[in-house]
Amino acid sequence: SAPIRIAPSILSADFSKLGEEVRAIDAAGADWIHCDVMDGHFVPNITFGPDVLKAIRPHTKKFFDVHLMIAPVDPYVEAFAKAGADLISFHVEAGPHPHRTLQAIRSHGKKAGLVLNPGTHESAIEPMLDDVDLILLMTVNPGFGGQSFIHSVVEKIARVRAMIGDRPIELEIDGGATPETAPLAARAGANAFVAGSAVFKGGPAAYADNISAIRRAA
Ligand code: DX5
Ligand code: ZN
Repeated sequence: SAPIRIAPSILSADFSKLGEEVRAIDAAGADWIHCDVMDGHFVPNITFGPDVLKAIRPHTKKFFDVHLMIAPVDPYVEAFAKAGADLISFHVEAGPHPHRTLQAIRSHGKKAGLVLNPGTHESAIEPMLDDVDLILLMTVNPGFGGQSFIHSVVEKIARVRAMIGDRPIELEIDGGATPETAPLAARAGANAFVAGSAVFKGGPAAYADNISAIRRAA
């Protein structure tokens, strides 16, 4: 199956110097850069849009894993694709036409991911398994960094891993990932780990140790 990916979420970075922060997590060994886009409508918080993504794009060559917590999604796919996303994922709860959105993302030459909230059953994505590059299972309710890992999602991780079979799909988790919780998700079959507070705590001098602690645990 796919290699381990550690994807620090810049939601926990210092927004007053995002370029520097992105360089710092790149140098500290991040595999992917996870970008959390929130609209104050689909989730009760607001972060940043495509112009901010575009501004940080020149600061790293690493893979931009863009997590859209917005509704509707389709009107913004092109802007995020052009801003430099490598993969765009969106919530299956965000609208009635997730398959159309997958097609739109792929039509821009980008990888496409489907996200499930903790309370959504995996049957919602089963018909689209041949059309996705990544499945992201939320291990917190989306909107804020620093929340606790929801343990009941671990069984869903195992069910989704089984459902994926031998398809080349990345299985990512997001929320409350730490050196204590990442191994639970890894054992259930996750290979990609978003981490915000666990990476950014302690400031830039600690990023490398924080990332390798999660990597070793996973
Ligand atoms: C939550 C975001 C997460 C969040 C993770 O809505 O999608 O990516 O930043 O933060 P931690 O790792 O602090 O739970
Ligand atoms: Zn996220």
